[in-house]
Amino acid sequence: MKKIGLLGCGAIGTQIALAIDSGKIPAVLTHVYDTSKEAAVELVSKLNTKPEIVENSHLLSSHPVHIIVEAASQDAVRDVALSVLQNKRDLMIMSVGALLDESIYEILSDACSDFKKTIYLPSGAIAGLDGIKSIKDELESLSITTTKHPRSLKGAKFFETSDIDLDSITSPTTIFEGTAKEAVSLFPANINVAALLSLSGIGSEKTGVKIVADPNTDKNTHHIEAAGKFGKMTFTIENFPDANNPKTSRLAILSAIETLRKYCSDDIRIGT
Ligand SMILES: NC(=O)c1ccc[n+]([C@@H]2O[C@H](COP(=O)([O-])OP(=O)(O)OC[C@H]3O[C@@H](n4cnc5c(N)ncnc54)[C@H](O)[C@@H]3O)[C@@H](O)[C@H]2O)c1
Repeated sequence: MKKIGLLGCGAIGTQIALAIDSGKIPAVLTHVYDTSKEAAVELVSKLNTKPEIVENSHLLSSHPVHIIVEAASQDAVRDVALSVLQNKRDLMIMSVGALLDESIYEILSDACSDFKKTIYLPSGAIAGLDGIKSIKDELESLSITTTKHPRSLKGAKFFETSDIDLDSITSPTTIFEGTAKEAVSLFPANINVAALLSLSGIGSEKTGVKIVADPNTDKNTHHIEAAGKFGKMTFTIENFPDANNPKTSRLAILSAIETLRKYCSDDIRIGT
């Protein structure tokens, strides 16, 4: 049985822990950490097999786990990702936006090959990354339009310098248009999908991002368009937000669970 350490006990971390506890992921959750002790204690109280709560994030990978699952924040990735690999543990990252900093990406990529460990990035709240990866050398354009209810966008750094008042939006309104690189720093908790898409395809400076606030929607919708010598691909994913965190889609949680289930199982692998 694989042993797992969990960094972040919020909406995603809790569902992953419950999937391990129920046997859906054939593994043991041995250690957890959250900057909010309360969140860690609450998570552990929901589990039949109780993991140990460690005192800081770096202690997670000092225990004999196979993989650390990050479901916390971009800061958490910047803080612990390298030491996890140096401690010879695999790592699954949900806060993918952190990897759009090229120096971080290169350091972690080099560490994977130096320490013979793997970083897993689940497809998150989108689909189609298998196709995008396959045709990346023939891609000429790649873009994503994300439409969410204004409440799912609240608190983003973008609004510190923008005049847009989310509460006064009454019809679908484009609030941002730019590159994935810009979007990830301005909407860090919202736009991991743009980071994933650009890492799979032609990079964050060539991937177009549009963000639409729609007060009439109850879904987080992502529309992806890719075109090039191979032909054209379009994907539209209409996600229901998670009940505990409207910024996070249900599919993001399920995709994290499936990535971990595969990591923990000897099985037939389907898809590219
Ligand atoms: N890849 C994707 O498609 C995708 C989709 C949704 C969310 N995410 C990202 O995954 C992460 C978790 O999402 P969530 O919905 O569970 O969020 P959440 O806010 O429900 O939970 C995050 C938890 O992590 C804790 N935390 C924050 N920073 C920490 C740190 N440095 N060290 C330890 N704990 C820390 C918080 O206290 C909180 O309990 C976020 O960064 C989010 O942006 C990725």
